[in-house]
Formats: sequence, C-alpha cells, structure tokens
Amino acid sequence: MKGLSLSGLWPVFKTAAKGCPILKLQKKTGKIAEDFYLLLNPEIPLFLADGDNPVAFDAGFACLGPFYADAISGVLGNRPLKELWLTHSHYDHCGAAGYLQQHIEGLAVGAAPGAARVMERPGAVEVISQLSRVAYVMMKQIWGLDAQDIDFAPYRVDRILRQGFEFEISSRLSVRVIETPGHTRDCISFHLPQIKALISSEAAGIPDVTGYIYADFLVDYDMYRASLEKLAMLDLDLICVGHGGVIAGPDAAGYIKQAMSQCAAFKDEVERLLNEEHGDMDRVMALVRATEYDPKPDPKQPEPAYLLNLKARVAAIHKRLAAQNQADAC
Ligand SMILES: [Fe+2]
Repeated sequence: MKGLSLSGLWPVFKTAAKGCPILKLQKKTGKIAEDFYLLLNPEIPLFLADGDNPVAFDAGFACLGPFYADAISGVLGNRPLKELWLTHSHYDHCGAAGYLQQHIEGLAVGAAPGAARVMERPGAVEVISQLSRVAYVMMKQIWGLDAQDIDFAPYRVDRILRQGFEFEISSRLSVRVIETPGHTRDCISFHLPQIKALISSEAAGIPDVTGYIYADFLVDYDMYRASLEKLAMLDLDLICVGHGGVIAGPDAAGYIKQAMSQCAAFKDEVERLLNEEHGDMDRVMALVRATEYDPKPDPKQPEPAYLLNLKARVAAIHKRLAAQNQADAC
C-alpha cells in the first residue's frame, strides 16, 4: 500500500519478530494481589479491591452485568459492594454500571465530574447504548459467550472523584485518584500504593499480544503524554490496563516508559503520513488501520469503536500539526 512504512510505524513488530522479550500480559482471573481481584474476563475486566469497604473499578459491557454481579458475589459472599468507581464514561468501562447500581443495594458510583455530566447528555447516552448493542452481538457471535440481551442503563454518580482523593478500603489497603486526561477529558486512574497497583484503563495505552501498545489519546496528544509522565513517577508492581490482562512484576516497572516511547513513535508516524498524504485524514486512517487493526487476531476492539477512536487519534495529531505549522508561519 502506497506510503506505508512498516519499519517506521511499528518498531515493536521488528522486536517481536527477532524473538526479543516482549511484554507478557497476565490473563489470570481471580485473585491477582493481596485483597485484589480481576473478575470475569481479562479482555473486559472488573477489578475488585476487598476490605471493610469493598470497591470495584469499571464495569464493562452492559450485556455482562449479571456476570459481573455473580463474580462480585463470588468474592464478597453476602457482604455488599460499597463503591463502583469508573475510570471514564466509555461504553466498555461504564456499560454495566447502571445494571449493578440497580441490583446491588446501596452501591455508590464514583466518577470524575465530566463523566458524571455525560449521563445528562441524551446524545452521549444513545452512543453508549448503540455501542453496547454492537458489543452484545460481538460477545455472542465472535467470543461465543452467553451474554445477556440487556440495554445500557444510565447510572447515577453519587461520588465525584478528583485528583488526590483517597479512600480507605481497609486498614491495609487504600486507593488514591490520579487525574489522567488525554484519552478522554475526564479520564482518571486509581493507585493502590500498598500493593503497588495502578488501574489505568486506556490512560497508559492498551498492549496487545505482540507487545504493541495502542496509544489512545482521543482528545489531546500532549495532555495524554503529560498524564503518562505523571504515572511514570509511581512505583508499580501491577498495571491493570483496560483490556487484555495485567502487567505484573518486572514488566510493570518499565511499562509506562515503553508506552510513552511507542506513543511518541505513533505520533511521529501519523505526522509523517499526514504530510505525505497532504492532510487526507481518511487516507491516513486507512493506512494505519491496515497495520494496526486488520491483521490482529481476535479478541480485539469491535470495528465501529476502533474506527471512532482512530478518527479521534488522527484528528488530534492533525490539529496539533496544523497549530505547529501556523506557529512556524508567524
Ligand atoms: Fe476508553
């Protein structure tokens, strides 16, 4: 395909092909650290920190609501889940939040101020509903899971989460909020210092089985990069990305730096393609998709969601490039 340089765009493919060590994604479900669990499925997980005040983090597709509820009960027994905190308001992170709120008495949903406002916008709720239906079909037809035909239910945000807010889960486990905008404006991450764990969703990219890390700056590249720099300051043994598993042990220590490096490489290559293709974003999207999405095996992001996100990522670089060109001309 004209204008596409694999060697420039995906250096990690070359690394993997030479048999060099690449990131190992731990796919285990259940207990992954002291009082800390990955529940249901590593591709669309719910994380649970257990203690006197149990907190769950993210609740993926709407059609998986009953399964998340069962998995939570499997750990907590008759003890109630007190809190469900959301990293951001995308359909694959908040899809089942409304279902869980309806079915777990007294459950408080926590989210950033912006994520709370999303539920007040009918257009945004409709997009989440549509993507939730696509996810249901994907679960049934591609993953072969017995997902439930459940519509997305809007949720009520009971607790507004801002930078630095701390919550005691138990005498030996706490969680702190870190604002990490860039994927979305309202994206937040959660740090559990006692177990050196980070729940980053897409704020630190999404690695795939080849070791390639999707840089997911849907809103702003520089904002995303600044958030990564903030996360790089943490001492981490466990990184819970949004999909695909967790990065544990020695790999965790170097992951954020690797995400930063691959993110910069992606930005540079999209800039190069935009220049070569004279700013034709559709053409650049087709070129990127041909290597980043089409050849990848399942499980992978549903195509409509991938294309929505890719458009946003290319647009963010296009906008940044235009601002730079304008500044250079002045
Ligand atoms: Fe997201």
